[in-house]
Amino acid sequence: MQKRLVSDLKNGMITAEDVLSLDGQLVVPKGVALTDNLIARLFSFDVFSILIEDEQLTSTIDDLLESPSPSASYVERMKASPEFREFKEEFKAGIEKMHFSLNALVEKNTDFDPNDLLTDTMAMVNNRTTPSSVMDMILHMHEFDDDTYAHSLNVGMLCNIFARWMRFSEEERELATACGLFHDVGKLAMPADIIKKPGKLTPAEYRLIKTHPLESYKILSNYQFPDEVKNAALMHHERCDGSGYPYGFTSEKITRFAKLVAIA
Ligand SMILES: [Fe+2]
Repeated sequence: MQKRLVSDLKNGMITAEDVLSLDGQLVVPKGVALTDNLIARLFSFDVFSILIEDEQLTSTIDDLLESPSPSASYVERMKASPEFREFKEEFKAGIEKMHFSLNALVEKNTDFDPNDLLTDTMAMVNNRTTPSSVMDMILHMHEFDDDTYAHSLNVGMLCNIFARWMRFSEEERELATACGLFHDVGKLAMPADIIKKPGKLTPAEYRLIKTHPLESYKILSNYQFPDEVKNAALMHHERCDGSGYPYGFTSEKITRFAKLVAIA
């Protein structure tokens, strides 16, 4: 048997161990032929590598030598799939909607209805086959993930998936998605050159950036957002050990929705 990265696994490889999650849950049992769904499951449980039976490994190497293909790995196959291309198009359209929506909030545009964005984002996740496959696709939208709009869309969808895994009710999943979508709107009220600064921030710049959760809270307070959404924005940089900002709250004071945004 030999260890293989999950990103290098192929359909048909046989597991040589019971693969367990960090909390001891059985993710994939020993002796099973891998499928796309099982590989997606390994990704969703943050499994980095697993043991594969030698026989399968040998034939895999032979296969690769005979016909090296960029789509050999699970990730490459996923990226080449029609579902991924469709998701990417929806993601691009979603970023446009994020631009409109977050800017409308900052500009206090009263025609803006946050429910439109929320409904679209819920559909982007719910219309897909499994939460794990959506998660994989989100994690591979790298080319878009460097600004507040794409980041917020990502976090909104991830909060939705995490809320489902945590068995939140349908209403709570919607709340969690909204928390993710709108948590960083305060960043748009900060000077763009500081937000986009590639290098290290000066202490003064960092102090300013640390006010963005409060800015988010203030902006969202101009609208009829639920308290859960406003408080998640206010507390999304707090940490359970009290090392976060802006208030240094510890776990008991941080809402579960804020914790969800923090890990998304
Ligand atoms: Fe933030």
